[in-house]
Amino acid sequence: MCKCSFVRVAWLAACLALASTQQEYDVNQPTGDVVFNSVRSADVALIFDKSEIVVNPGEPLYLDCGARGDVRSCIWETEGGEIYQVQDVYENVYTGLTKPENTNGNECGIVVNSATMEHHGHWTCKVFVVGNSLVGKKNVIVTVKPTSPVLEIDDRRSLTVNGNSETPVQCSVAAARPAVTIRWFLGNRDVTVSAATEETPADRGGIYKSISVLRRSFEPADNGKVLMCSISHKTLLAPENATVPLNVIFKPAEQPLTTFYQISPGSDYEVRFNFSANPPPIRQEWRFGESFDNPAKIVAIPSVDGRYTTGLEELGTGMYTAKLLITDFMEDDANMEYVLIVENDMGETPYKVRLSMNEAPAETLSGGAVAGIVIVLLIIIVALCAATYARYRQMFCFAPVTSPDPEEGKEDREEHSDTESARGTTPAHTATIKTRLGQLTQVFRKPKKDQETKLEDNEKKSLTKDEMTKGSPYNERNPDEKEVVYAELDLGKGEADKKADVKADEKTEYAQIVGTLTDNREEEKKE
Ligand SMILES: *[C@@H]1O[C@H](CO)[C@@H](O)[C@H](O)[C@H]1NC(C)=O
Ligand SMILES: *[C@@H]1O[C@H](CO)[C@@H](O)[C@H](O)[C@H]1NC(C)=O
Repeated sequence: MCKCSFVRVAWLAACLALASTQQEYDVNQPTGDVVFNSVRSADVALIFDKSEIVVNPGEPLYLDCGARGDVRSCIWETEGGEIYQVQDVYENVYTGLTKPENTNGNECGIVVNSATMEHHGHWTCKVFVVGNSLVGKKNVIVTVKPTSPVLEIDDRRSLTVNGNSETPVQCSVAAARPAVTIRWFLGNRDVTVSAATEETPADRGGIYKSISVLRRSFEPADNGKVLMCSISHKTLLAPENATVPLNVIFKPAEQPLTTFYQISPGSDYEVRFNFSANPPPIRQEWRFGESFDNPAKIVAIPSVDGRYTTGLEELGTGMYTAKLLITDFMEDDANMEYVLIVENDMGETPYKVRLSMNEAPAETLSGGAVAGIVIVLLIIIVALCAATYARYRQMFCFAPVTSPDPEEGKEDREEHSDTESARGTTPAHTATIKTRLGQLTQVFRKPKKDQETKLEDNEKKSLTKDEMTKGSPYNERNPDEKEVVYAELDLGKGEADKKADVKADEKTEYAQIVGTLTDNREEEKKE
């Protein structure tokens, strides 16, 4: 039962979707409002899909147009003003135009057997009914195969770009209808996101020129990769491409210190160190000694110098292996520090190397992970300290204040006392999480203020209670509560200071106690 109704709803939805693709124009509503069969009241309606048709030359062009009701006749009109009577088409008056196989709901439809450039443009279906005519208009795009994509570069054999600096590369397609889609690939990677494509109409015939500019910085690792501009179009079975190999030039790429482990004493050991540089190095040498900064010995590459034999192996696309063969490896060799110096036209880079007879250490945490742990630990320590401090301060604070103003919350009072008073008379029996948090933030925000408050304590305490009660709106109603006294005193201390505090701590409610009650309300309204 339930299932059945679901199926029915689904069918209805499908029917509605279908109906909406074929828009029907009612005689009485020539504005083009969509009218569905089921709810149509008028006798005649047009069935027409206004969406454009993209057709390749040589393919059939189906021009559909239907009408329900008493149709007198119908015609198709081209953008150029040519008129084809549908009746004539059906009677084979025009060559190349035929009757569609199915004319149900397509009573005025015609077929252009083989589309040509002349068929490009707007086509209008005009249906004549009693005392009126119905019109449907659609755009027919007869495709124009795109011209080949062209990479706008000086040298077709390779594109030389500076490593780590942005080089715009342009790819253009002179003409296509409709416009082509341009994608960029660096090796196998789609890098189209770094590109912007602009389409300019070449003429009035719907032909576009497309220019895509790729803006990205190329890295040493991109050296030797192929940059490709790839265009796709309805007329193309496979994308058409323009490619160029990249020649990324960079100074020998930096690397962190490298340690070679597990070197057995007495053996001949060859250090093989990989590095990359483009253009090729013009100078390379090994230096070693007590420290990296003060190497005593320099051995050129390639050369043979006593126990040392050096060499350079080229691996292609800017990759090299620098070799250092040490005959009869000794403990002294392990105690030295080695630097490989490589220079090319773009600059010079030193590579630090250590040789060790020890086992390679077990995988340790990366520097980033260690830093992260240290930061988390620091945060925990700070939080603990703050909590401890807050607890200590709590002894003096959280004195409850019965609200003299019904609109003011009790928590507000508590925060006031917390901030502005440091009396040790009242126990902390109403500390809520909120006030504790407030206290915590204040520990961070206003350490200076707190100090001031403490310094002033003695001063404040020297005042008698009688003095305090006078002129205090709080005390008039709550003579037992002394916390407000300090607020009043603070006001006297410096109005300017207080105002600044209000601004700085907009979110801490404690700001409310500064100044007189009315003053604060004004402040609040402003905010
Ligand atoms: C252009 O590149 C695409 C993607 O790599 C490939 O599928 C297509 O065959 C290429 N086109 C030509 C003409 O080689
Ligand atoms: C150096 O490069 C060669 C060739 O690509 C490779 O086989 C070797 O593993 C590399 N050595 C190191 C230490 O990465």
